[in-house]
Amino acid sequence: MKIAFVGKGGSGKTTIASLYIKHLQAQQKPVLAIDSDINQHLGESIGFTKDEVNSIPPLGVQIDLLTQVFKGKNPRLQSVRSFKRTTPPGSGSVLVSYHEQHEVLKSFEIEKNGIRLLRVGLPQDESLGEQCYHANMSGAEIYLNHLVDSEDQNVVVDLTAGIDTLASGMFISYDVIYIVVEPTAKSLGVFNDYTRIAKSTGIETAIFAIANQVTSEEELEYIEKTIGQKPIAVFPLSSYIRKTERGEQVPFSEIDTGTKEALFALNKHVQTHTKNWDRFYKNLIYFHMKKANKEPHLKLEEQIDPEFSLSEYIKNGMR
Ligand SMILES: Nc1ncnc2c1ncn2[C@@H]1O[C@H](COP(=O)(O)OP(=O)(O)OP(=O)(O)O)[C@@H](O)[C@H]1O
Ligand SMILES: [Mg+2]
Repeated sequence: MKIAFVGKGGSGKTTIASLYIKHLQAQQKPVLAIDSDINQHLGESIGFTKDEVNSIPPLGVQIDLLTQVFKGKNPRLQSVRSFKRTTPPGSGSVLVSYHEQHEVLKSFEIEKNGIRLLRVGLPQDESLGEQCYHANMSGAEIYLNHLVDSEDQNVVVDLTAGIDTLASGMFISYDVIYIVVEPTAKSLGVFNDYTRIAKSTGIETAIFAIANQVTSEEELEYIEKTIGQKPIAVFPLSSYIRKTERGEQVPFSEIDTGTKEALFALNKHVQTHTKNWDRFYKNLIYFHMKKANKEPHLKLEEQIDPEFSLSEYIKNGMR
């Protein structure tokens, strides 16, 4: 299951993504964590050292290597350069399963205590000013769009703040998106903007709110009233997080009860989702065609194989 955490800057995306990863780890469940945030903090908050994080090449700046792998023998993809973030898999494309030991793809990750980490990285010095961060994020999207996971396999992504990530269709790579909200007008405004924009695409999306730093019933009521729905989990102001922020080493087993309950609620909610490869593929084609229509000279529509069924391809062992 591909899960993303988004929200206003500073709302607690990285904190909640990392708590959820640690929660899964504590239950002996393997996790593939992807740091897709411009502020790259996920790795360190789930137990990797700075040196370990820096030792893995960023997905975002090595896109050619990735696309070379996924392109495989797909005759509709002439070159790695023609590969866009919406390029759909087709006959001959390489798809990878969750536990696959692909030599090139493995070189992008580091593993520690049951957690695998990938990162998109920051824009390279030479592209600063000309290349936006989205180009980096494409690395994660291309990876995710060619990753075949099942409902009980956990892929957790810490996304960057900003409405444009969703507006440009970047939500289709995920089975479910959680928007982290605080009881403030700005944070809740971001939720309302995200959901409105996602709806305006006409695409079926699974987007839900997670409340963070809630200190009273009154604050929770304010959240519910402003967004018109109940958050699927409510995180209190956490003494555990405060202590770890001060540099104290607190075992995860000693997490405060409110935070623990919120993590169980979140996990329960994640488990209510099912994967739907046909819906995913349809959405990918929708955004790919949008791009094709915007840049007709690229003839991107030719990358789509009308006879291809992703769910059948997966069922038949991706050959
Ligand atoms: N439930 C909580 N209890 C106590 N402190 C919290 C809680 N949630 C987040 N914080 C604190 O709030 C700050 C911002 O959190 P975090 O870095 O997770 O936000 P973010 O949304 O990832 O930010 P950015 O947009 O910069 O990536 C951190 O100092 C974090 O420790
Ligand atoms: Mg963050």
